[in-house]
Amino acid sequence: MATERQYSPLDRLLLQADTAMRTLLPFSGQPTRPSPAIVQPESELDEKQTRHIAGLMRINHTGEVCAQALYQGQALTAKLPHVRKAMEQAADEEIDHLAWCEQRIRQLGSHPSVLNPLFYGMSFGIGAFAGLISDKVSLGFVAATEHQVCKHLDEHLEQIPPEDEKSRAILEQMRIDEEHHAESALNAGGFRFPAPVKFGMSLMAKVMTKSTYRI
Ligand SMILES: [Fe+2]
Ligand SMILES: [Fe+2]
Repeated sequence: MATERQYSPLDRLLLQADTAMRTLLPFSGQPTRPSPAIVQPESELDEKQTRHIAGLMRINHTGEVCAQALYQGQALTAKLPHVRKAMEQAADEEIDHLAWCEQRIRQLGSHPSVLNPLFYGMSFGIGAFAGLISDKVSLGFVAATEHQVCKHLDEHLEQIPPEDEKSRAILEQMRIDEEHHAESALNAGGFRFPAPVKFGMSLMAKVMTKSTYRI
């Protein structure tokens, strides 16, 4: 029978530092699934379209940086081992999204946001804090965040022209995965957040999207 490996606090700290580096350093996230963009044709985009799509993909990339940090923070403070495991598994899946978005940003001749370390730190803190309150709150936070991400993805899919099939394929697959993450968190016992909390979260998301679209 397989037994779960026990990590010391120092091991955990080193693992966290490793994940932070793999999230923040360029080209360091290794996806387990190939990007859905690979099988899509290149398209002719003018300069204005390219800049706009790169801005949107930069927002999505930072969203994935935040998701990674949030899950890591929550895994650190989760009380039940199965909740911790679920958080670590979800974080692995988000690495695919992170890598796909970064690849597409580079193809569009741009770069990820310079604000990513700041958002990583903030999201890690929020995740760890939610985990300290309770697993139910932590899982509820995941569900609310993933719903927020789905909303952004829908808005971006409306703005990305049909001819950019590469960006669209990435966002469409992410949309499916994020919806699944939200459902799993609620099924695992996540608390459904009330509207005022969700409103506060959407204001925070606005700050992130406005800033990372440009830098
Ligand atoms: Fe994601
Ligand atoms: Fe997700």
